[in-house]
Amino acid sequence: MPLIFAIETSCDETSAAVYYTKKRKVLSNVTYSQIDHHKQFGGVVPEIASRSQLEKITPIVQCALKEAQVSLDDIDAIAVTKTPGLPGSLLVGVCFAKALAFGAKKKLIGINHLEAHAFSPLLEHNVPFPHLCLTASGGHTSLYLVQGFGSYKFIAQTLDDAAGEAFDKVAKMMGLGYPGGPIIEHLAREAEFKDFYNYPRGKKDRKDFSFSGLKTAVLYDLVKKNAYDMAKKQFLKPHNQTLKKEVASSLLVCIADIFTQKIKIALKNYPQAKAVTMAGGVACNKYIKQRLTQLCERQGIQFFAPSPKYCTDNAAMIALVGAYKFQQGKFDTFDLDIFE
Ligand code: KG4
Ligand code: ZN
Repeated sequence: MPLIFAIETSCDETSAAVYYTKKRKVLSNVTYSQIDHHKQFGGVVPEIASRSQLEKITPIVQCALKEAQVSLDDIDAIAVTKTPGLPGSLLVGVCFAKALAFGAKKKLIGINHLEAHAFSPLLEHNVPFPHLCLTASGGHTSLYLVQGFGSYKFIAQTLDDAAGEAFDKVAKMMGLGYPGGPIIEHLAREAEFKDFYNYPRGKKDRKDFSFSGLKTAVLYDLVKKNAYDMAKKQFLKPHNQTLKKEVASSLLVCIADIFTQKIKIALKNYPQAKAVTMAGGVACNKYIKQRLTQLCERQGIQFFAPSPKYCTDNAAMIALVGAYKFQQGKFDTFDLDIFE
């Protein structure tokens, strides 16, 4: 039963993990988050991200091996995120993994980051197949029917912004900081998750997601309230806590409603789904998880989401997919590229 070593560097986290397939156990999962490097810019700066990846990759890899109490000799294969992501960041992980695999004579396995997010709920839960998986992060929002390992049916995706991006952009508009999701959730809780402004939910019967109209609606609403200067791109009421809480709460309820709507449509179209899972950074949101749990209870099925450390980018989920691929003998050669 193989021991898988994994590296994840697709965006602004440097992560390495060791996964013991036989016991289905994560022996280590060490993640360095660059959030502090990007905060002042209100979003991820690709050039800064790749430079930081280069700086952190060696210590993070060493730390993950040490924490798992294994050496490179014990490892059977090295899995690495090959796509999608920021090219400069991906290259650091892929080059490092290739060099490691080449030097230590280990098998190399390239992993799709989104497939890994989709499987992250399985790190801690026995999720029955087939199930619906909603992946929502700063870069992606998609819904798949997961029939088994390697067998997915695409259902829907966002036509424009990702859900996490909507949180981040609205937070930026109000000068709240980055990443916006956790800050919006905190403010929304203080407003008791009430819907004050009834932002647009989009067409009820459409299966795809769309969040850019919502972001624009919030912007126009703030302008109408004399709270935002379009020309200066500046929030004009930084001390108005009530307004911030009301906008945050209305936004969160709106996004939770949109998720609920789309999953309801998908459950109607795919009645064979035995459960619903949620993955990606937005799956850290307790309010959204509570709403989806309630929806699933009404439908008589289970809802699963990973713990926060496996929601945001992490190498444990890369290792898990690596373990499946190892079992199927799906290896890569040293010409592995980042856009495959
Ligand atoms: O998966 P992730 O770490 O990175 C990407 O691959 O994008 O997701 C980051 C995203 C950010 O947009 C962040 O605002 C959002 O996840 N996020 C949240 C929460 N925690 C993180 N969104 C809503 N509520 C949260 N508690
Ligand atoms: Zn991700």
